[in-house]
Amino acid sequence: MRKMLILNGPNLNLLGLREPEIYGHRTLANVEALCVAHGERLGVSVRCVQSNHEGALVDEIHAARGTVDGVVLNAGAYTHSSIALHDAIAGTQVPVVELHLSNIHARESFRHQSFIAPVAIGMICGFGVRGYTLAMDALLSHLEGDR
Ligand code: DQA
Repeated sequence: MRKMLILNGPNLNLLGLREPEIYGHRTLANVEALCVAHGERLGVSVRCVQSNHEGALVDEIHAARGTVDGVVLNAGAYTHSSIALHDAIAGTQVPVVELHLSNIHARESFRHQSFIAPVAIGMICGFGVRGYTLAMDALLSHLEGDR
């Protein structure tokens, strides 16, 4: 059975409370339950982790190497700042789909740059919570070699 890690970064524990006009009303627990249920439909086992700490996210990427088939990563604001996360993905070669709830390209200019994008398989943004299941579908399709 394939394994996926759903990795959420800083402030995503506040989903549901945090700027709901941008990020919606669903909580992180709702999102994680949605991902687990989607994993069951896909026949994929899913583990969900959230951390507000950059180093902890780096550790999760390192631990993912050889233990999971791929990662759906919403790195939150670290997307726009973290060379460490970029290097962790490049260094481990773990397949990563970058995910954002909001359309980062339609927001402030500081959100337009992603340090994850150059080392990700691809990016899904702007589709809200549904983006997580779209990212899982995209990751599975990549793992199965679809082009
Ligand atoms: C986000 C977008 C980031 O710019 C922001 O810092 C977040 C959430 C998103 O899911 O839309 O924390 O990654």
